[in-house]
Amino acid sequence: MTEPNPRILPYGEAAIAEAATLIGAGGCVATPTETVYGLAADATNADAVAGIYAAKGRPSFNPLIVHVAGRRAAEAIAMFDRDARALADAFWPGPLTLVLPLRPDASIAGLVTAGLATIAIRVPQHRAMQALLAATGKPLAAPSANASGTISPTRAEHVATSLSGRIPLVIDDGATSGGIESTIVAVGSQPRLLRPGPISAADIEREIGRWLGEAGAGIEAPGQLASHYAPRKPLRLNASAPHDGEWLIGFGDVAGDDTLSAGGDLTQAAARLFDALHRADASDRAAIAVAPVPEEGIGIAINDRLRRAAVR
Ligand code: TXA
Ligand code: MG
Repeated sequence: MTEPNPRILPYGEAAIAEAATLIGAGGCVATPTETVYGLAADATNADAVAGIYAAKGRPSFNPLIVHVAGRRAAEAIAMFDRDARALADAFWPGPLTLVLPLRPDASIAGLVTAGLATIAIRVPQHRAMQALLAATGKPLAAPSANASGTISPTRAEHVATSLSGRIPLVIDDGATSGGIESTIVAVGSQPRLLRPGPISAADIEREIGRWLGEAGAGIEAPGQLASHYAPRKPLRLNASAPHDGEWLIGFGDVAGDDTLSAGGDLTQAAARLFDALHRADASDRAAIAVAPVPEEGIGIAINDRLRRAAVR
């Protein structure tokens, strides 16, 4: 029998040791974080980072997020102003990515930032990613562990299906708790929200004591390309009932083939969103419809992802 590719190992000492060995040798390994599963490689090794782009089939202009164990490691790579320090104090470890000026002397492969003078950096909370950071002693570049342009993975099986034959190992620690990618904020003279996420704009504004600007018209976070988290099938938004041949994803009072949260809980809906989209894509129905989700709190990030999933 041939080895399954990738192998899926349950989280634990053996999985972390093997993953650290693979990363030390310049490979990439999928690991859960509190948001989605990430595809991690040594951010100081250009060949290793190139391996991430190759496995994902990712356009090379799209820079990656670097994960570090804590503030000290982050400050060795990027320059923190007052706002950045306040946000790191408030939300790290956790699902917040800061885009900061890159230190000229930081030993980060140019491919990580796609040549930009800024770097996206976060301190993750998840035990698997933290254990991998400790075991490798390296900053780890990690985009979501899915083929470029497809739905982000919230379970090890999603990764194994999307990157089948392209990576050696997935660390399995069950479904991720957050379910939606980190909030991205660019810090500077006018801090801006580049990607809505689990930490709301209001939470950020409270910490920095002023309003966040909108992302500019250009593609500041290329993950903001209109079509991003796309299922293979057409997707219709704000549906109260399914049309013929549609798989309905429900919310609240709208019961579907699958329901994000019957009780209308937005945090639960966020945690289930991508899994529900994966199931809808795998169903026998030709199209997908999704019930309305309120535009409040993390519902803003849910609707952001759904609108992108609906763009063909
Ligand atoms: O929750 C997350 O953030 C997950 C987990 C694995 O940590 N990672 C993730 O990475 O979503 P990725 O690569 O799928 O998304 C990274 C986003 C992209 O939209 C990218 O364009 C943006 O971050 N980005 C990276 N570096 C940037 C920079 N210097 N300036 C602006 N945007 C940047
Ligand atoms: Mg992604």
